Amino acid sequence: MNVSDSERVATQLAADGYEITRNEAAADVVLLNTCSVREKAEHKLFTRVGQVGKAAAMRGARKPLLGILGCVAQLEGETLFGKSPAIDFVIGTKAVGRVSKAIEQSFDGEKYYTDLENREESYVWSVAASQRHSPFVAFVPIIEGCNKFCTYCIVPFSRGRENSLPASEIVRHVWRLRREGIREVHLIGQNVNSYRPKTVAGLENYPGATAFSRLLRAVAATGIERIKFTTSFPRDFHPDIVEALDEHENLCNWVHLPVQSGSNRILKTMRRGHTIENYLERIDKIKASTRRIALTTDIIVGFPGETEADFQATLDLAEYCRFNSAYVFKYSPRPGTPAFALPDDVSAAEKTERFLRLDKLLRFHQQAVFRGYINRTVEVLAEKISEKHPDQISGHSTCQMVVNFAGASDLLGKIINVKIIESKANTLYGRIF
Ligand code: 5AD
Ligand code: SF4
Repeated sequence: MNVSDSERVATQLAADGYEITRNEAAADVVLLNTCSVREKAEHKLFTRVGQVGKAAAMRGARKPLLGILGCVAQLEGETLFGKSPAIDFVIGTKAVGRVSKAIEQSFDGEKYYTDLENREESYVWSVAASQRHSPFVAFVPIIEGCNKFCTYCIVPFSRGRENSLPASEIVRHVWRLRREGIREVHLIGQNVNSYRPKTVAGLENYPGATAFSRLLRAVAATGIERIKFTTSFPRDFHPDIVEALDEHENLCNWVHLPVQSGSNRILKTMRRGHTIENYLERIDKIKASTRRIALTTDIIVGFPGETEADFQATLDLAEYCRFNSAYVFKYSPRPGTPAFALPDDVSAAEKTERFLRLDKLLRFHQQAVFRGYINRTVEVLAEKISEKHPDQISGHSTCQMVVNFAGASDLLGKIINVKIIESKANTLYGRIF
């Protein structure tokens, strides 16, 4: 979501006449887009702020104008100016359409410019081709914000309530991307399957048990080659989503379904709204698909009150699910969330120990899952020349695995059948089939 926000900010700035550079030394304005989901992410901000000032001083140049965007900006607002005098302006998560104004005001000498206000009616969600993170893959936001209030999570506070974009606009957006040569779209949102537009306009011809599965069918009907979506919320993960995947080849075979814990007791204090039993029902439905759907997840270790038995339940869950990959996080108390009031009673050493044990088990299963691809042919979007091996192309399969294979730049942007011959830690290797 942050990468997508940054792309839209760059698009707007370029349209307003600014030139975008990734070369910090050449920049008159530096924008830092921030994450506050864990404390470590927040710390990074202040390290980067310090670096920007220091780098300018070393060059003997004036410090560039420094603007803070994103979740930390939204949550901390004007208090950021007190934490670092190098910061010139602060733009909240919904004010990203108005960065030009902040720059102008700050250049004109206005101090402590802060905009934490709402999105404007006319906000543009699309991105100029020149500002996309990839020439072949595009993000399409379908829902912003979150109403779930999991007790550990800051996102409902930093990104506000759920707001679904009109289906007709999403479908038009995908049509436009397809015409521009985009091969793969990622429908994105904190919880894509909580998608609930105000009207069914754009979905009339597409049946389904939920607005999200109808949207999947509507987007599939645009004929764009590949459609991925993330993140799905387990409680709202209706079996009809898997049915839509079974029906449409261009809906990719990958589901990211964050479980967070394998213990019902912990899930309850996390207020996730799902139990392990109904999570596993969803997993069984996904695994019973006619397609081989890759599964990924997020897990938190060391949530307040997590005992060895609770943690063991998480290990059991990992054993059962055989995830293609999983992001494991040590619990990080976030001020303002309900869990912040709970004692952070799993010691740092214990969190590290659980993290490592879980990581080891996940990697073990992951390697077995990866080996299962050997001798099979997967469709890979040739995205870029491999950084490590310039004679290889790197891309993603429909199941969101990184696949490398021998090839030259004329293949970039094409979808290629690759037979997998080897698997390594995070990558599959193959040859053109
Ligand atoms: N501590 C640790 N991990 C967290 N996440 C969200 N909030 C926290 C927190 N306070 C993780 C969850 C979520 C992912 C994006 O970040 O696993 O799915
Ligand atoms: Fe955070 Fe829970 Fe919302 Fe995900 S569903 S963004 S974990 S509150």
